[in-house]
Amino acid sequence: MKAIITTAYGSPEVFKVDNVAKPLPKPNEILIKIHASSVTKADTMMRTGKPYIGRLMLGLRKPKNPIWGTGFAGVIESVGTEVTQFKTGDNVFGENIETMGTYAEYVTVPEDGIVTHLPENMSYDEAAGMCDGGITSLNFLLNLGKMKPGQKVLINGASGSLGTAAVQIAKHFGAIVTGVCSSKNSELEWELGCDEVIDYTKYDFTTNKNSYDLIYDTVGVRSFRECCGALTENGKYISPVLGMRLLGAMMMTSIFGKKKAKFSATGTLSTKETKRLLGILLEIIEAGNLKGVIDRSYPLEQIAEAHLYIDKGHKKGNVVLKAIA
Ligand SMILES: NC(=O)c1ccc[n+]([C@@H]2O[C@H](COP(=O)([O-])OP(=O)(O)OC[C@H]3O[C@@H](n4cnc5c(N)ncnc54)[C@H](OP(=O)(O)O)[C@@H]3O)[C@@H](O)[C@H]2O)c1
Repeated sequence: MKAIITTAYGSPEVFKVDNVAKPLPKPNEILIKIHASSVTKADTMMRTGKPYIGRLMLGLRKPKNPIWGTGFAGVIESVGTEVTQFKTGDNVFGENIETMGTYAEYVTVPEDGIVTHLPENMSYDEAAGMCDGGITSLNFLLNLGKMKPGQKVLINGASGSLGTAAVQIAKHFGAIVTGVCSSKNSELEWELGCDEVIDYTKYDFTTNKNSYDLIYDTVGVRSFRECCGALTENGKYISPVLGMRLLGAMMMTSIFGKKKAKFSATGTLSTKETKRLLGILLEIIEAGNLKGVIDRSYPLEQIAEAHLYIDKGHKKGNVVLKAIA
């Protein structure tokens, strides 16, 4: 099969197209013919091998998994002898976080891994792109933010992968949602269901005093300190982008004050918890309240172009890779 081999950490030139043996499913695994796989901001950060601490999991000197990529959607080509929940021909989607391998034509996934049936109202592209942003935003809004119906939730970076999922998830759970994006994405935010849209190039949301129960800064460009005044009395600032500022704010707010700053690395959650979140994601999709936003799709061979595009930091929703044209 055709696959993208990751040879080293660095620029997108580290990816090489190659022909490798098609994987064989173990007794507890399913073999999936991939119709779409995700290319994410997290993938581009892993590619650089920075921050270095990430290499403890990915491989110290060079990537230990030759084929990268985690999000996938496709059709089951065969199943292992012990598989009971899936059969050949089923459409599925999910995240292969531990062993990766989705920058390829085929991948094997354990049946008790992060994989589920593809709902009829969602395309392969949407589903593949949706997993990273959807599961991460569920983790942040529900687990960290403890979001409740009627709460005022502000999503900064509302036009990105995490942001487009977060707006729809927060609306599904009955929050009053403000999306922060640039002028070119305002229309998208209204379409996704925002109650208010703020253009960050024209207005600074942190000047709205005592206004939000939850600020979810998906792109990590505003600090807890900057957002503090805009939070309500017991408000929370949550962000998936960890830096020294957020680390300091988390330590400080764990001891002092009613307003809190929080971070989580969603990829380190247990398989059981990630599967639970995938189940919730599925329910929201089946209820018709979550649509995937696809910015661009690239053929498998153009993985370097996909990474270069994401590196610019202005994608709208998700980018997918297509092994099958
Ligand atoms: N901790 C975790 O569990 C976890 C999991 C997954 C991802 N992440 C991290 O989460 C971050 C976000 O990922 P993502 O895939 O959602 O990013 P993304 O899709 O690449 O974000 C791009 C979006 O951010 C918007 N943006 C850029 N600058 C902005 C600003 N100053 N204010 C508001 N919006 C701005 C852009 O809109 P414009 O073009 O209009 O500027 C664009 O639509 C990444 O750093 C990723 O590594 C963390």
